[in-house]
Amino acid sequence: MRRDVRGRVVLVTGASRGIGRRAAVRLAKLGAVLALTARSAGDLAALVSELKALGAHAEAFPGDLTVPADRERIVAETVAKFGRLDALINCAGVCSFGEFSTSSEEIVRKVLEVNFFAPVELTRVAAPHLTRSYEGGWCPAVVNVASICGRWGIPSMSEHCASKHAFVAITEALRGEFQRFGIDVLLVLPGLVRSDDLNRHLLRNDGKIHLNFEGAQPSDEVADAVVRSLLKNRTEKAVGFASWWVWFGKRFFPRVVRFFMQRKVWKYAKREKTKR
Ligand SMILES: NC(=O)c1ccc[n+]([C@@H]2O[C@H](COP(=O)([O-])OP(=O)(O)OC[C@H]3O[C@@H](n4cnc5c(N)ncnc54)[C@H](OP(=O)(O)O)[C@@H]3O)[C@@H](O)[C@H]2O)c1
Repeated sequence: MRRDVRGRVVLVTGASRGIGRRAAVRLAKLGAVLALTARSAGDLAALVSELKALGAHAEAFPGDLTVPADRERIVAETVAKFGRLDALINCAGVCSFGEFSTSSEEIVRKVLEVNFFAPVELTRVAAPHLTRSYEGGWCPAVVNVASICGRWGIPSMSEHCASKHAFVAITEALRGEFQRFGIDVLLVLPGLVRSDDLNRHLLRNDGKIHLNFEGAQPSDEVADAVVRSLLKNRTEKAVGFASWWVWFGKRFFPRVVRFFMQRKVWKYAKREKTKR
């Protein structure tokens, strides 16, 4: 199946920067009508101007997705402005890099709030409109941008992995449930991605294992994969070599993957010991 997004209304969360912003630009070039959301109104306004200059239809609906009234308003304003909603791309998210022993309940709850409850509850609000799109003869979809952390628990990313595992689980459950509404529920699993602003992406950055954030996969490539998932209706896509390696390894050689994860922790433990 190939989905034609020309003239279709797509709500993209996390559109102010990173993967979401780049996915929005790609969709605009394909002729989609963009409803863009994030908290940074200024960044969204700049993106809308950029997209309009390309001849695209786009509008910003700023808001905090952890606030129920904002989720309701964003969807209501999208439908009021464009008349319908055909696809939802759940891309907004945060990360927390650091050991569980130095974390707190507040951080765990905050990560779960943004990465799990917000997209899930936004999906609940959007679903009736997506059903209407199906009844109108299209193939609506929800694209959930999770992470390979949703398929394997990675040391020093415990809160993040918990949130993304929960997100992956509900994605799979809803995929079955939403069949009767004609809504496809798709999953994208990026690995480590280069951020536009690491300080805003990470709630904390005190992890001890080595992660090469600077040398990570460009967000352009991940945005491409997100858009391709929507166009080609890909049920699940691990993006980039690192993500694919963990995804494939979990299925066929989980002990090897576990060894590499443990080695990262041993290495940092050794570094800490020699420092003392
Ligand atoms: N970067 C990585 O290494 C990586 C790896 C795997 C998966 N992912 C996933 O890919 C997605 C996008 O990541 P990214 O690298 O593009 O991150 P990013 O550059 O930090 O962008 C995150 C986006 O989420 C929005 N956002 C955060 N909290 C929000 C809230 N409470 N309400 C509304 N919007 C909120 C941010 O906008 P405002 O700050 O303006 O609200 C921003 O637009 C996330 O779900 C992330 O977990 C990223």
